[in-house]
Amino acid sequence: MTTIRTTNFFPALGAGATPLDIATAPENPLRLLESWVDHVMAIEAVEPMFVTLATASASGVVSSRTVQLLAIEEDTTLFTTNFGSRKGVEMLETGRVAVSLYWRETAQSVNFTGSVEDDRGVQASRVASFHGRDLPDEAAHLAKFQALVESGEPIARPDYWKWFRVRVDAVTFWEGHPESMNRRIHYALKDGAWSKGMVQA
Ligand SMILES: Cc1cc2nc3c(=O)[nH]c(=O)nc-3n(C[C@H](O)[C@H](O)[C@H](O)COP(=O)(O)O)c2cc1C
Repeated sequence: MTTIRTTNFFPALGAGATPLDIATAPENPLRLLESWVDHVMAIEAVEPMFVTLATASASGVVSSRTVQLLAIEEDTTLFTTNFGSRKGVEMLETGRVAVSLYWRETAQSVNFTGSVEDDRGVQASRVASFHGRDLPDEAAHLAKFQALVESGEPIARPDYWKWFRVRVDAVTFWEGHPESMNRRIHYALKDGAWSKGMVQA
């Protein structure tokens, strides 16, 4: 049996990252998320946009997985998935998700929750693949994909593969500081207005 030992090491804010400051934190947390993303992009952090997306079934059974955060918009974040997948079915059942991300380069983390909005306007092209289905013959699958690519025919967009937006309604920003004097700011949306405050970390 392998025993995994934790150490006292705790990450601290990366050089060049702007420390969290409640005095200057923007009114809308998505603007802060954008500025953090701009920074991790600028320093070429490793795969900075892969995040954990958690969902729950109507009966309260929870699940999570890695997805790509594709865009941050005015009040929403954008993702894409197969709505026949477990997460897709659960999002349809509850209309809610939680998202977590952590960047080791800056020792910053963001957790947010929100409601799911189907985006019919932007459909991803996923014809050859039905995500999550058994793949008994990979060669045939690849041949089908190749034939489709080479056919020159217009590629239809299947309706199960959808972009979706998360309309964000609560966000917590966390960053590591030396001696575990970590810093957290929590935002909550109520009646259309954001409030924010520091939380002991
Ligand atoms: C780095 C990485 C990025 C991924 N990005 C997505 C994504 O953007 N959308 C998606 O549906 N699945 C993505 N996946 C696959 C999911 O993690 C998951 O395996 C799949 O969507 C099925 O999840 P579910 O059965 O819980 O719904 C990604 C996996 C990894 C490791």
